[in-house]
Amino acid sequence: IDIEGIPADLDRGLLPSHVFNDPDIHRLELERLFTRAWCFVGHESEIPTNGDYVVRTIGEDPFILVRDEHGVVRVLLDACRHRGTRVCRVEKGNASNFRCPYHGWTYSNSGDLVGAPAINTAYRGLDRSQWGLVPAAHVRSVHGLVFASLDQNAPPLEDYLGGMKWYLDLMFGLHPEGLEVVGEPNRFVLDANWKIGADNFSGDDYHTVFLHKSMWEIGTIAIPPVANMQGYHVHAGPGHSVTFSIANNPDEPGPKFWGYEQEVVDSFDPDLVTPKQFEIARRARITVGTVFPNLSFIIAPLTDDPTKPPTGLISLRQWQPRGPGRMEIWNWVLVWKGTPEPIRERAYASSIGTFGPAGLFEQDDTEPWQSITQMSGTQYGRSIGMKLNYQMGHQPSGVGFVEEITGFPGPGKVYSPRYEEGVQLNFYRRWAAYLNGAA
Ligand code: FES
Ligand code: FE
Repeated sequence: IDIEGIPADLDRGLLPSHVFNDPDIHRLELERLFTRAWCFVGHESEIPTNGDYVVRTIGEDPFILVRDEHGVVRVLLDACRHRGTRVCRVEKGNASNFRCPYHGWTYSNSGDLVGAPAINTAYRGLDRSQWGLVPAAHVRSVHGLVFASLDQNAPPLEDYLGGMKWYLDLMFGLHPEGLEVVGEPNRFVLDANWKIGADNFSGDDYHTVFLHKSMWEIGTIAIPPVANMQGYHVHAGPGHSVTFSIANNPDEPGPKFWGYEQEVVDSFDPDLVTPKQFEIARRARITVGTVFPNLSFIIAPLTDDPTKPPTGLISLRQWQPRGPGRMEIWNWVLVWKGTPEPIRERAYASSIGTFGPAGLFEQDDTEPWQSITQMSGTQYGRSIGMKLNYQMGHQPSGVGFVEEITGFPGPGKVYSPRYEEGVQLNFYRRWAAYLNGAA
């Protein structure tokens, strides 16, 4: 596989078609990307009490995300140090200890080896401090979003996020008590490569008016006339992209603050962000983005039932690799703490009904995503070195003909109108850098 040639292809707006279903690339992604990048593992509100835990994956490796007895959030490889048996046998719960079912080695919820059957007769001088569960190298939270990196030499999370941090602040940092997950994240397995989801949420607006045309027609999303708002594609940081649909002026009729109810908006504290950040939030109608590598989000006024009014909500999506041509899609619904129960229920139902496993948007998207993956595995495509086209808005030379905006208040390169695929190229450049060992 010619990984070294991919950056030059990307410079011409091209991507080799086989990257979505290739065992060698999949292996390199696990070895060189998921072991080194900062990966999302869950939200702090999923483990509010000491001892709470959930099981998550980084790449395809299982980890326990746990709040230990001192309140410290830890990410521990779910593998006993004796023979490697998984010590956590359920998806979530509360435990002071994890006891291995094979021979009974027992670990505290901080990961320390605290006991083993017949430890004093069976072992001489076993240094228990050397035999705890293996922790992720680094764990950090941003607005309750917990990220972990398995790379001892990883840059600090803030450096890794770059300009994306500014946008995460304005989306997830508006409320003094923060966000919380409603119910359980729902998830399902799809015969499609994980990158296709990350690619789509990097800013594939192009498909929304075509593939999802019927969604606008039946009214699952409260979208005002396009003339009243402007779209911005933001290359926010290395690999990270975000798309905003923003009202042209603050007094424009239509949703404000992504369509949150007034009582929710009233709970926001403008002093938590800068005036420029607050102004973008106020005018924001739809925001979609991807935090490299595989966490995406949509904030929008959505409804699962067009007879009921849409409500502003945050869906977090994660695209977890499960083999070269398969992924597990995770979907979390978040609301602000203190959101009244009826609004929480609407937000949950609307998110499940649009982006859950049987969601209206999800049903549209997953069909082409599976056929892309199938195409990507074809021998003929490989044999002729077929390339896919990511040239929208940019000359093959890389020079943009879509206007680059200079007056946008946030960091990064910003393009408008948003008919450009530089956001996806931004994702693949970072991806190729990891695979080449250059990131
Ligand atoms: Fe866990 Fe032996 S494998 S105690
Ligand atoms: Fe879609």
